[in-house]
Order: sequence, then structure tokens, then C-alpha cells
Amino acid sequence: MKYKSQKVAYMFFALSMVLLLLQIVYGFIMAFAHAGYDGLHEIIAFNTATATHKNLLVVWLLSGFMGAAYYIIPEEAQRELVSVKLVLIQFWSLAIVGVVAVAGFHVGWWEGRKFLEIPRALDYLVVVNVLLFLGIILVTLFKGKEKTTTAMVLAMGLFFAALLYLPGMIWFDNQSMDSFFRWWVVHLWVEGVWELVMGGILAFLLIKLTGVDRELIEKWLYVIVGLTFLSGILGTGHHYYSIGAPKYWLMIGGIFSALEPLAFLGMALFAFAMYRKGEKNHPNKTALYWTLGTAIMSFAGAGLLGIAHTIPQVNMWTHGTLVTAMHGHLAFWGAYAMIVFSIISYSLPLMTGRKLYDTPGAHYAFWLSNIGMIGMTTAFAAAGVAQVYLERKVGLDFMVSQNALHAHFWVLIGAATLFTIGIIYYVVNFFKHGMPTDEALIDNK
Ligand code: HEM
Ligand code: HEM
Ligand SMILES: [Fe+2]
Repeated sequence: MKYKSQKVAYMFFALSMVLLLLQIVYGFIMAFAHAGYDGLHEIIAFNTATATHKNLLVVWLLSGFMGAAYYIIPEEAQRELVSVKLVLIQFWSLAIVGVVAVAGFHVGWWEGRKFLEIPRALDYLVVVNVLLFLGIILVTLFKGKEKTTTAMVLAMGLFFAALLYLPGMIWFDNQSMDSFFRWWVVHLWVEGVWELVMGGILAFLLIKLTGVDRELIEKWLYVIVGLTFLSGILGTGHHYYSIGAPKYWLMIGGIFSALEPLAFLGMALFAFAMYRKGEKNHPNKTALYWTLGTAIMSFAGAGLLGIAHTIPQVNMWTHGTLVTAMHGHLAFWGAYAMIVFSIISYSLPLMTGRKLYDTPGAHYAFWLSNIGMIGMTTAFAAAGVAQVYLERKVGLDFMVSQNALHAHFWVLIGAATLFTIGIIYYVVNFFKHGMPTDEALIDNK
């Protein structure tokens, strides 16, 4: 850590940890409901649990991205953040809006559109919050000594993520139009601009952890940005097959979305090429594990499990089933959760001065969470394929076919328990680091 103000990242990371634990609680509520034990139905019905699970995910990931930006931008731009006071205001307003939104779901205050459930009144507060965040980041960057490609890609990803929140706020009376623009947010986030955020953080970590020349790492970053936009923008069409959009989307969506794994493959090859070329003497091996792990797991979850159901001939059977949940879990975990864990694992010892990497707890956290998540993905896959067969081939009623899937959810609960133990190790290790301190200044490795 070179600049005092980088310490503010800690608050955002701590918020991420707490909200992740809460997200997991709601995951278990749903998993038990799927296994036939929906005991909390009167207080937390499935629709409340699912909205809470997914919105907590989005909030803790965004909080992680914001923490990453507050850590990375000063170091890249070579100056302090323009105002720590404004960061504090931004942090607390983010935490309050997030908690109010999630509490609101429990009393029916929501919009009911998957991932965009936050009611309109709170959307405006989200916009103000994100504008404040972007203001601090962009002004710091432009007042700084350097405008590195890594910092620009990260800032560009965050800027476009904010801009793409807006199509979800337009009011439509028509269901097809509403769905059409909902995907501009959901798809263009995870398969577009968030990939830039991920690429920016990955490049920063590889520069620090491998010691390879910045010029080389940043050249790769251009290739990744190019591949992402080339495939991801028109790839939106893979959500337009069955919402009433024109038929040509079948062709466009099928072809371009099938190219999307290339961007993730590019990132994986890039990370490993830099690792092989690098010095391999950085002491923080835990951060390196998470960084290389991100590269592999994002390709598996987003790339491979994405292409598994992206062409129209397959998607006509699997659309909206547990096959989607299979892909959604490994993709979100492998790409965005793991990149947040990577930057935390790297920066926390530097902010607090306590080098708790390479401990048994840090290793258990990595392996148990990843093996658990692979198990969960497999359970969802088995349940999803059985669901497609029973519901769409045999023609059983939705709820009748769901009743036949209980066994898969016991497997899910088993794997999720393993996953959760890994996460608890990670969170315990996080808080064991203690608070950030100025004594940790200068240590920049
Ligand atoms: C890290 C990147 C990605 C993440 C986090 C992600 C996550 C998700 C999530 C959560 C959904 C469900 C959305 C909803 O129903 O509202 C979804 C749907 C889908 N994703 Fe991805 N995805 C990623 C990348 C990809 C890629 C690269 C492909 C294609 C190669 C892909 C193909 C699909 C398809 C076809 C659907 C629609 C499933 C259906 O019809 O029910 N995804 N994704
Ligand atoms: C103990 C851990 C977890 C359990 C038991 C769990 C369980 C579940 C269940 C049962 C669903 C509902 C599936 C359905 O019927 O539609 C769900 C949805 C979802 N969960 Fe989790 N989850 C856990 C952790 C996570 C994590 C860590 C992430 C992200 C990194 C995540 C991302 C999602 C997403 C994106 C969806 C929506 C899937 C879709 O669009 O179909 N979950 N989860
Ligand atoms: Fe998509």
C-alpha cells in the first residue's frame, strides 16, 4: 500500500463479507424448500428468498468492485483519493440502500423483475450513490500522474456498468419490451462491462504478483476487451429467443454468444502465460491461487457452461430451468466472486500489515469453497437435466416434476455445506487481519 486513502477499500470488503454470509443463508432456505422443507414459507416465501439471494449477491459484488477500485486507482494514478470524507458518505449510503432494499423484499416492496427487483424510489438513490462513487474515482484518475491502461479499463467498466443500470429504469407497458431492455442491464453487465472490471483487476494483480512487464500485460488486456465487445454485445440475442423479439435474433444470438467463451478463454490463457513468464517469488501465494483460480473457474462456469445452453436448439429445452441455475452459480462464482476474493487476498495483508497468507485456514478456504461450488453446480446440472426431461419431454406439471427432484437438492445441501465451511474459513481469516493501519504504508509488494 502506497497511499493512506487506499485503506477505505477495507470497509467495502468487510461489507462484502457480511452480505455474502447473509446471501448464503437465503441459498439454504431455497435449497431446503426445493428438497420439500419449506418451513419458513409464511415469513420468507420462495420469491422473497430468491430476490434476496440474488440482490445480496449483486450488492456484495458491487461493494467488492468499489473496494477494488478505491485500492487500485490511487496506486495506478499515483495520488491519494480526492476525498476520503466523500468515500465515507458513499459507503454508508450504499450499505443503507442495500439493507433497506433487501428488507423491503420481505414486506412485498419490490418490482418483481428478476435481478432488478429493487423498487424505483430506491433506484434513484442507487444512481446518486454510483455517481458519487464514479466522481471520486474519475477525478482521482484524471488528477493523477499516470493514466495506465489497467486503470482506464477498470474505470471504463465501472462507468459503463453505471450507465447500463438506466435501461432497467425505463417504464414499459409491454412485457416483451420490458424483457428486451432488462437484458441490457443483466446480460450487458455480466457478459460485457463487468468483464472489463474483471480484466482490469486481473491485470493489476498479475502485474503485482508475477512481476511481468506492464506493457505486455496491458497488450493482452486490449485483446480481451476486443473479444468481449465483439461477442458480448450481439450475444445479448441469446436471451431474445422466446420473449417475442424478431426471429433473426435466433441466428444472431446463437452465433455471437457461442463466441463469448473466447474472451474467458483469452483471460485464462493470459493469466497462465503471465504466471509462467513471471518470477514466482511473490510471497502471497494465496492471492496467486485465487487469481489463477478465477481464470480457470470463470472459463468453466461462464464459457463452458454458458455455451452448453446458448444455442437455440438447446435453449428451447433448457430455458428457465435449473440448468440456468447450474450455469448462474459457477459463472458468478468463478468470474466475479473469485476476482473479489483475489483482490481482497492480495490487498488485505498490505492494508493491515498482517501477513496471514499461506496459513492452513487460507488453503482450506480456497479448496473447500471451490470443491463445494463444483459439487453444487453438478447437483444443479443433474436436477436441471431431470427437470427438462420430466417437465418438457414427459410433460409433467411443473410442481409434479419439482417433487421428483428432492434427492438432487439433498446433494446440493451437502455440497453447499462444504462450500459454506470454505467461506467461513475465508471470512474468519479476513477479520483476523484486524483493521487497516498507516504503519503498513510503503509495503507495495
Ligand atoms: C461471468 C459471466 C456470466 C455470468 C455471471 C452469467 C450468469 C447468468 C445468469 C445469472 C443467468 C440467468 C439470468 C436470468 O434468468 O435473469 C444466465 C443466463 C444465461 N447465460 Fe450466462 N452468465 C455469464 C456468461 C455467459 C456466457 C459466456 C454464455 C454463453 C456462452 C452464457 C449463456 C447464458 C444463457 C444462454 C442464458 C439463458 C438461460 C435461459 O434461457 O434460461 N452466459 N447467465
Ligand atoms: C450455500 C450456498 C448456496 C446455496 C445453497 C444456493 C442455492 C440456490 C438456490 C436453491 C437457488 C434457486 C434456484 C431456483 O429454483 O431458481 C439459487 C439461485 C441463485 N444463486 Fe445460489 N446458492 C448458494 C450460493 C450462491 C453463490 C455463492 C452465488 C454466486 C456466486 C449464487 C448465485 C445464485 C444465482 C445467480 C441464482 C439465480 C440462478 C438462476 O438465474 O437460475 N448462489 N441459489
Ligand atoms: Fe447472457
